[in-house]
Amino acid sequence: MDQVMLVAPSLLAADLGNLQKSMDAVASADILHFDVMDGHFTKNLTFGAGMIEAVKSVSSLPVDAHLMVSNPDDTVDWYLDAGADFVTVHYEAATHLHRVIWRIKDAGRKAGVVLNPATPVSVLRDIVCDLDMVLLMSVNPGFGGQKFIENTFSKLNDLTALCAERGASPLIEIDGGVSSKNAEALGRAGANVLVAGSAVFGADDPAAEIAAIRANALAGLASRA
Ligand code: DX5
Ligand code: ZN
Repeated sequence: MDQVMLVAPSLLAADLGNLQKSMDAVASADILHFDVMDGHFTKNLTFGAGMIEAVKSVSSLPVDAHLMVSNPDDTVDWYLDAGADFVTVHYEAATHLHRVIWRIKDAGRKAGVVLNPATPVSVLRDIVCDLDMVLLMSVNPGFGGQKFIENTFSKLNDLTALCAERGASPLIEIDGGVSSKNAEALGRAGANVLVAGSAVFGADDPAAEIAAIRANALAGLASRA
C-alpha cells in the first residue's frame, strides 16, 4: 500500500477516567490503538474486549487491537465480537499463527502479526502474503513512554525487502516511542501506520501532534527512493 499514512493513538496513554474527552481529543486520528495486555505475555495487565465496546460507543474511528496475550487462539473471538477492525497477534505468543490469522480474516477483519524487537523479520516469510498488517515493536511490550529502539529502522528495511521479494503489501505499523520527531524517518523507511501514546496524549495539543506526525511521515514517504 503506498501513499497511505495512518496515525494510531494508543489508549494506554489516555485518561480512561474521561473516555469521551480522551476520544474527542484524538478525533482527528485514523485508528485507535488498543494495547491489550493479559498480565502473562506481558507482566502488565491493561484492558480487554469490554474497553473496545465502550470506546466504540463514543468514537467512530476504526479499532486496532494489539493483543499482547498468550495463546491468542483462545481469546481472539472476544475482540472480533467486540468489533475490532484490525487484530494483531504476537508471533512469539501464537503456536498456530496461520490458523489464528485466518480466523481473523474469515471474520472479515484485517489481520496482522506483531514482532518483538529481537524477533527477526525472516520468521514472516511464509505468512507475510496472508497479512493485512505487520506491526514492528519499537519498544519492548508492556508499557508506554519507553525509548525508541533504533534497530527498528534496520528491521523496517528487512521487512520492505521481504515484502518486495514475496510480492506482499501489508500495512507496516510501528509501535513504541513514536512522535513527530521520528515520524519523517519512519515514513521514509516505509512505515505507514504510526502508533503514538505518550507523544499524543501527553501533548498540550493532541490534535496538533497527530497532524505533525502525519505531515512529517508523509514527507518522509514522499522522499522514499
Ligand atoms: C507497548 C505498547 C505501545 C505503547 C506505545 O507495549 O504496545 O503501543 O503503548 O506507547 P508510547 O507511544 O508512549 O511509546
Ligand atoms: Zn501497541
